[in-house]
Amino acid sequence: MRDVQRIAIVDPADATREPLRNMLLGVESVWLEAECSRYEFFLDVIRQSKPDVVVVSLDADHAKALQLIAQLAQECPGTPILAVSGRGDGQSILQALRSGAKEFLTSPVVLEELLTALQRLHRARDPGSSSGVNGTAKAESLVIAVAGARGGVGSTSLAVNLGCTLAQNPHYGVALIDLDLALGDADVALDLMPDYTLADVALNIERLDMTFLRRSLCKHGSGLSLLPHPVQMEDAGLIREEHLQRVIGLLRASYTHLILDLSKGFNPTDVTALRMADVILLVSQLELTSLRNTVRILLTLGGDPTLGEKVKVVLNRVGSDADIGLKKAEDTIGKQVFWQVPNDARSMIESRNAGVPLLQHAPRSKIQQSVAGLAQALCGKAEAPAPSKKGRFFSFK
Ligand SMILES: Nc1ncnc2c1ncn2[C@@H]1O[C@H](COP(=O)(O)OP(=O)(O)OP(=O)(O)O)[C@@H](O)[C@H]1O
Ligand SMILES: [Mg+2]
Repeated sequence: MRDVQRIAIVDPADATREPLRNMLLGVESVWLEAECSRYEFFLDVIRQSKPDVVVVSLDADHAKALQLIAQLAQECPGTPILAVSGRGDGQSILQALRSGAKEFLTSPVVLEELLTALQRLHRARDPGSSSGVNGTAKAESLVIAVAGARGGVGSTSLAVNLGCTLAQNPHYGVALIDLDLALGDADVALDLMPDYTLADVALNIERLDMTFLRRSLCKHGSGLSLLPHPVQMEDAGLIREEHLQRVIGLLRASYTHLILDLSKGFNPTDVTALRMADVILLVSQLELTSLRNTVRILLTLGGDPTLGEKVKVVLNRVGSDADIGLKKAEDTIGKQVFWQVPNDARSMIESRNAGVPLLQHAPRSKIQQSVAGLAQALCGKAEAPAPSKKGRFFSFK
């Protein structure tokens, strides 16, 4: 899992300290190092606990709190201070920042704002803390949308196997959201019987916090966490763009890699996923319908500068006799192919029918090696250790 931030909070008022504490306890990337209800004792607490970030709530006594911030800033200049107050007026914010706070949040604190502030503080402390696609500096999780050029092209197979492969890295936290809301089958591919689905999350969106969201994910033996599509087809309509925005925002703060398996409908939720993704894998095949749709999709996404540049074409099932040539395909779609996954019907169908990923079913197959290579190409380094029967995967289930 990603680096943990050790946090200490001070707030004499139970009514505001407790919700903030509970919110912090739900964030996987946070360790609550100390909690204090007296401004007078907090400096000693900090001297002993040496947290990465301190949170000072101002409202119990603004003058005392600002004085404390000034003392903390002087005595522990390397420890960023996050000030919290119900008074979000310019004057209060300025006073807190002038006293030495690095960030200011208005209470009641909104989880997304807290996470963003913590990420900014983390980045400021350790600018090279993580890297994303092609090694570019990136503080948040890598969000990978997997879209297909037509039905049955292999999106789910690639999404699931990419997720399980990435999850082998003990430094990664990997989650997959099944956005094929009506007919998704990531749960079947992983032989998981989820207790909760995206529909439960959408229905409880008002009280959604990290603890609830994490409980809604179903963990596979490989380490991959899955947020499945709704069980009832009619519940697909419950999930709106704003729900998904919130869920992706929260999960990307908690997981290093988030994979989104899209439907082929280019629905509003799919478009939201495309917008929020850092990279879009457009899965296609070397046959006419797929290539024609690839051209159409690239044209549509290319019309939006924020989307077009994120698209990477992945050819699946490469190597069958009837394939259109690679050169001709690249000329047709006007873009270089990013990755090719070989055709291996036997390994793939057996793995899908058994509900186990390739990593377990056919660890040495060319197709699994290719998925591992794709994971490596996306993350810029060798992330997937050579699969082994004694490896981490087999210690589960
Ligand atoms: N590289 C491959 N080699 C051989 N067969 C494959 C390969 N990739 C996928 N398949 C097979 O193709 C079929 C469709 O795969 P999959 O369900 O992943 O596609 P999809 O794009 O998610 O489909 P849908 O449009 O229903 O979401 C499955 O039977 C799978 O076993
Ligand atoms: Mg699918």
